[in-house]
Amino acid sequence: MGAVELKNKIYWVGAVDYNVRDFHGYQTPQGTSYNAYLLIDEKITLVDTVKKGFAKDLLAHVAEIVDPAKIDTLIINHVEMDHSGSILDVLAVAKNAKVYCTQKGQEGLIKHYGMKDREFNVVKTGDKLSLGSRTLTFVGAPMVHWPDSMFTYVIEDKVLLPNDAFGQHLAHPSRFADEIGEDHCMEEAAKYYANILMPLGNVISKKLDEVAQMGMPIEMIGPSHGAIWRKNITRVLDAYKDWTVFKAKPKVVIVYDTMWESTDLLARRLTELITGNGVEVCLYNIRKSDGSQIVRDILDAKVLLVGSPTLNADMFWTVGGFLTYLRGLKPKNKKVGIFGSYGWAEGASKAIKKEVEAMGLEMIEPPFEVQYVPNEEELSKLKEYAKLIIQTARAV
Ligand code: FEO
Repeated sequence: MGAVELKNKIYWVGAVDYNVRDFHGYQTPQGTSYNAYLLIDEKITLVDTVKKGFAKDLLAHVAEIVDPAKIDTLIINHVEMDHSGSILDVLAVAKNAKVYCTQKGQEGLIKHYGMKDREFNVVKTGDKLSLGSRTLTFVGAPMVHWPDSMFTYVIEDKVLLPNDAFGQHLAHPSRFADEIGEDHCMEEAAKYYANILMPLGNVISKKLDEVAQMGMPIEMIGPSHGAIWRKNITRVLDAYKDWTVFKAKPKVVIVYDTMWESTDLLARRLTELITGNGVEVCLYNIRKSDGSQIVRDILDAKVLLVGSPTLNADMFWTVGGFLTYLRGLKPKNKKVGIFGSYGWAEGASKAIKKEVEAMGLEMIEPPFEVQYVPNEEELSKLKEYAKLIIQTARAV
């Protein structure tokens, strides 16, 4: 049995992708899932589909409960292909299903799948759909994650199906966060938020307020990826509130790359000097690390230290690539320090500073730089720099 009853004839019928390791650049060492939900009522309703290639799993899970041909209603909360990718496979079986989505959803589905002849039922915030014994309310949620996104709320069961919001890239045989381990799921939710939703924090914050004002008590959250939240729901809701305002803790993330180990030596010494002063430290060599995990740690860090050697009068290319990714995620409420080594000419710190300023983040001046290999005097001065970093990180 793959389908799982979540509550009163509401079933998880999605697919678990245990083997995906790269989700459009997001590293997923624990895989992911594409969650779809089946509601058995007078109108048999499927909320979302799954990534193309997993349609057989989805239809098999539905078939454990009901003949998929009997699906009357297909809700598409979000057009991105990890959720809509099997829509044509579903509609090929559920020939009479009516499709519900936002206006942007309709436009996106036509662009993706050429469904010009299909009749869509376009919904907006506050629209309701009776399924018989229960009623759905739709909440338009543009930019959570795409312009087409919406949430579906099951009024009688107090179940929120918010698609990407509150998700985690996590494949697991169990469906519930309390079964998998809440701490583990919260960490994955943080990583997911940081890498997917961080630039959309303002929109998400307003949307969560709107849902609260619409009088929608929530007993269960079924996101489109990972575990379903049914206990301690306020924990993940409160975490989202903190993340959307970039609430920081005394934490320093050191990201760097190195050529002849001088920048590496500075990074490791900084880690030793800062650790144990009421400050958490995370050290990442960009070329050897999971970039998505680095971003997760930056989410709630007060200080980011970026280390780079100078190469061709510029920052090292991996550092440039990482900062380009980070800039797109629009981090806020962080102070950034720069360190590294140069040879006969400088360039890295200037280039990094330009990126940091483009992100609108405050610099910790001046950068800590050495020529070629750090000597004892420079390593001694590094202690003063570390003190400044500790002080900055603790001033949250
Ligand atoms: Fe999981 Fe925006 O798709």
